[in-house]
Amino acid sequence: MADNRLIVALDFHKFSDMERLVTLLGDSISYYKVGMELFYSVGPKAISYLKERGKSVFLDLKLHDIPNTVAEGLCSLMVQGADMINIHASGGFTMMKTAAERVHKRAEEMGAVCPKLIAVTILTSINQDDWQGLGMTCEIREQVIRLARLAQEAGLDGVVASPQEAAAIREACGPDFMIITPGIRPIGTSTDDQSRIATPEAALKNGATHLVVGRPIRAAEAPKLAAEAIIKEMEMVK
Ligand code: C5P
Repeated sequence: MADNRLIVALDFHKFSDMERLVTLLGDSISYYKVGMELFYSVGPKAISYLKERGKSVFLDLKLHDIPNTVAEGLCSLMVQGADMINIHASGGFTMMKTAAERVHKRAEEMGAVCPKLIAVTILTSINQDDWQGLGMTCEIREQVIRLARLAQEAGLDGVVASPQEAAAIREACGPDFMIITPGIRPIGTSTDDQSRIATPEAALKNGATHLVVGRPIRAAEAPKLAAEAIIKEMEMVK
């Protein structure tokens, strides 16, 4: 049975590949992530396909621009029916606050349910070398917490962060803040290009509300079995 805390990343270029995986996973999965790869090649029909099948959709386009452009961009995306959309917290407080206010106002005008608005803190692929290369002198964790607090203050619903930082975010932002964690790797699977990873069980125990999983399911020999094994592990942490 599906667990709404598990979000499967549909990182495909082709509609037919997405369709094949969604059909194969069937009722096991109720929440999907549409990212740049799929949305830039297929467009809004990826979202409508999923919504018509009763699935929830996280539209992961990580907007990062000046406040007005991000706010209006989100309003254009919102009408396509995603349940959750995201922006980069490093766009700053004013950008996030403008985005949150504009999206809520537009949803109200439309009489629509406002999608959850989430901020990306520091990408889970960033390692210490990348971090220092950016000229950053504080710890990654310290910056993640700073951005999470800023996002909460700006009126966002939650953050995307590494499962390794989830516990500290939970402590800093309280019980109602959503924490979406990619970088999930069940024991024995490849880490790929991810750096700050954890198992599904550890991520939930650290306070994650949703897990985003791509390659460990998509690239598995038997994706449905891989998904079910993750759900089973998740069920142990309620
Ligand atoms: O294949 P894998 O499980 O690594 O996929 C993780 C997914 O989560 C990818 O679609 C990636 O774009 C996304 N993501 C991430 N780190 C973030 C935000 C999103 O890995 N900070």
